[in-house]
Amino acid sequence: MVDDPLLRTVDLEKHFGGVKALDGVSIEVEPAKVTMLIGPNGSGKTTLINVVGGALRPDGGKVLYRDEDITYLPPHERYRRGIVRTFQVPKPFRSLSVLENLLVASRAGLDTSAAKILLSTDWAKKEEELIEKAFRILELLNIDHLWDTRADQLSGGQMKLLEMGRALMSEPSLLLLDEPVAGVNPTLAHDIMSHIVKLRDEIGLTFLIVEHRLDITLQYVDRVYAMHQGRVISHGTPEEVMSDPKVVEAYLGD
Ligand SMILES: Nc1ncnc2c1ncn2[C@@H]1O[C@H](COP(=O)(O)OP(=O)(O)OP(=O)(O)O)[C@@H](O)[C@H]1O
Ligand SMILES: [Mg+2]
Repeated sequence: MVDDPLLRTVDLEKHFGGVKALDGVSIEVEPAKVTMLIGPNGSGKTTLINVVGGALRPDGGKVLYRDEDITYLPPHERYRRGIVRTFQVPKPFRSLSVLENLLVASRAGLDTSAAKILLSTDWAKKEEELIEKAFRILELLNIDHLWDTRADQLSGGQMKLLEMGRALMSEPSLLLLDEPVAGVNPTLAHDIMSHIVKLRDEIGLTFLIVEHRLDITLQYVDRVYAMHQGRVISHGTPEEVMSDPKVVEAYLGD
């Protein structure tokens, strides 16, 4: 028996001039699973992430999250509901330490209206709890030893882990990751994928990931959607999708 999907898109359309970036895209993302979007350059993967995260409005179709229609909700409202994205190019505060970056990310996610802060009698206690939470996340990602390192001193791969740590501070349910291992050396790339699987298994997080590096990532994911020219051309387990002649053809044809 398959769980109800956490996220569903129904017949999404997004046009840029004459280009149909999304041409009737319907996908289902199951809870506590890692779902991956693959496809040649320009097939619509990032556009789909942008429509799900709220950075782009679709021209047609729907985005349903926990059965709620969120198609036209602004990004911060999706964030409040637990939908958090990371960017292909991480954007940490470069002169802040790893720990400070997590604390800032968490404040950005809280309702920090001045009144609330002033009325809060236990602000210091909250601060302490946040630091503890940040350390738990850094430990989970095995970068706790770097807590005091400035973000601009991190390697590319460590930066990706910091980006994930920042996302985790908001206690997301669904993480949208655009190319989480792009430009990362193979050892650290496997490490990042193992952390994703660990977060899935230990805290039941749900992932929707875009990635080109199939050699490294496919072994870690549960479901795959293959896109080509704005359409889903195949979906299923990694084995099913990779042996689908339509997928092979789409890659060879581009
Ligand atoms: N803001 C935009 N303005 C105009 N065209 C766009 C815009 N964003 C995307 N497109 C076009 O839409 C199509 C899908 O682009 P998208 O970025 O979603 O592809 P992708 O699958 O993420 O590709 P890649 O693997 O190269 O990242 C492409 O033809 C692209 O040129
Ligand atoms: Mg892209």
